[in-house]
Amino acid sequence: MSVHTQNSRITTTRIRQMADNNEPISMLTSYDFTLARLVDEAGADILLVGDSASNVVCGNDKTLPITVDEMIFLTKGVVRAAKHAMVVVDMPFGSYQISEEDGVRNAIRMIKESGCDAVKIEGGEEILPTIRHINQIGIPVMGHLGLTPQSVNQFGGYGLRAKEQAEADKLLHDAELLAQAGCFSVVLEKIPAALAAEVTARLTPYHCATIGIGAGNQTHGQVLVLHDMLGLNEGFQPKFLRHFAELGGEIKTAVQDYIAAVQSRDFPNEKESY
Ligand code: KIV
Repeated sequence: MSVHTQNSRITTTRIRQMADNNEPISMLTSYDFTLARLVDEAGADILLVGDSASNVVCGNDKTLPITVDEMIFLTKGVVRAAKHAMVVVDMPFGSYQISEEDGVRNAIRMIKESGCDAVKIEGGEEILPTIRHINQIGIPVMGHLGLTPQSVNQFGGYGLRAKEQAEADKLLHDAELLAQAGCFSVVLEKIPAALAAEVTARLTPYHCATIGIGAGNQTHGQVLVLHDMLGLNEGFQPKFLRHFAELGGEIKTAVQDYIAAVQSRDFPNEKESY
């Protein structure tokens, strides 16, 4: 009997093939077992344990505070839930910027301790040796260009990136470097749709998938923050976001109904009692 077991989750080979065939790739964030199971069963291709967990799960106003240990803790639950989708984890701020060695060590921790399938890293040329090294040791890397939230203090906000030609040229150059360094995909966040289409055309010969958020519909795939698209953050409605449900209101109504049932002693009733 072989001790070699293989999960049936989507692999980088499949994601590259989807990009080659222009089959749309769907990615959503997931941070816990219960919601990850639903997203996986619904058929998403990739579950991203984003460092947006810092905002969504922990209530911070930036992604910067979340740590490697916290990302690993969250990812373990998502990995237990994922039977079909690939699980990609964000390398949080501070886990790869200090040195190439530190970045590689933290990427190895992510893989070994969480069971994820790949890591995501923000940045281009500045971080290229680390990305190349992580790819070379067999850990698939998803890049992330455009609005990279870990640089929000430098950007001065979460506005559209690469509006000016110089930044657009750098982004195109960075995207190609990432593909050459072995990245199987690159997230393009909040950039003009025409630029995202140009990057996608540039990366397709490398079998490297582009996954957009606020980047128009010419990328190979799309990603959204799950809680945002489910309408759990009622007030958050930037131009690029579509609410596919309004669960925030539904949850509040359900909780109000529960409180009323408790207060009126309607809950639990006889059938709900032993
Ligand atoms: O952390 C995150 O959720 C992300 C996506 C928005 C791409 O990086």
